[in-house]
Amino acid sequence: MAETLVDLTGKSCLVTGAASGIGRATATLMARLGARVVAADVDAVGLAHLAADHHDVLCVVGDVTEPHDVRRMVSTAVERNGRLDVAVANAGVLPLSDVLETSPEEWDRVMAVDGKGMFLTCKYAIEVMQANGGSIVCLSSISGLAGQARQAAYGPAKFVASGLTMHLAVEWAHRGIRVNAVAPGTIVTERVRALKDEPGGPEYLDQMARAHPLGRLGEPAEVARAIAFLASDAASFITGTVLPVDGGYLAR
Ligand SMILES: NC(=O)c1ccc[n+]([C@@H]2O[C@H](COP(=O)([O-])OP(=O)(O)OC[C@H]3O[C@@H](n4cnc5c(N)ncnc54)[C@H](O)[C@@H]3O)[C@@H](O)[C@H]2O)c1
Repeated sequence: MAETLVDLTGKSCLVTGAASGIGRATATLMARLGARVVAADVDAVGLAHLAADHHDVLCVVGDVTEPHDVRRMVSTAVERNGRLDVAVANAGVLPLSDVLETSPEEWDRVMAVDGKGMFLTCKYAIEVMQANGGSIVCLSSISGLAGQARQAAYGPAKFVASGLTMHLAVEWAHRGIRVNAVAPGTIVTERVRALKDEPGGPEYLDQMARAHPLGRLGEPAEVARAIAFLASDAASFITGTVLPVDGGYLAR
């Protein structure tokens, strides 16, 4: 019988921001790979669609900026499956604005979701993973490893994701908890599709498609496969890495 490299059979997995885009692709792939998946999002309607399409995925409505909600996401997985093996800290907002356009309030909003939300997801996941070990995958970005124009709040927030990954990997390796990140290039998700209707959006998308050496933007499933690999035992000696999934963007 052929060996399956990435096998999540029986793993208890939490995916935040799972109602759309990369999170939805990850939750559904993990379920196909045998995981017992809890999908969380602030978007109740999107989650209802996910639940209708995938009866085996348990959905939790919640906001990753709220400690109480994140605890509930984690405890739902523990109550359902007896433990938490994998957490994917994916929920995020992706605004495009330069530093002059970015208000102090917008900075706080982006940092609340992309920064604090990721911190809370890691914190409460690690709290329960201490017992049995586990694997966390954070969503960084090419903007969390290199500078770009018009990402004055989003880019720094993604550096938080890269930084949390490295620091928590070192801090928790002794308890068998691996922490990695993926750094996607531009991926055609619902959010990125919407950019074509925003000021500067079409120009940004054209420029980004040309900037990826593979000559195209990425698909959510291509990121989901990298996340599933890092989450799985196939990546048992990988921790603290931020893996570009970017069609060669950062290699230029
Ligand atoms: N699409 C890209 O090009 C790209 C590139 C690099 C990194 N990423 C990262 O991937 C992740 C997913 O992005 P996407 O493109 O799939 O976006 P998306 O908008 O399609 O999905 C993000 C999901 O997060 C949810 N969300 C937003 N705020 C939330 C909150 N406070 N609490 C709970 N859920 C919340 C949204 O409802 C949505 O379902 C983000 O962290 C993003 O920064 C995306």
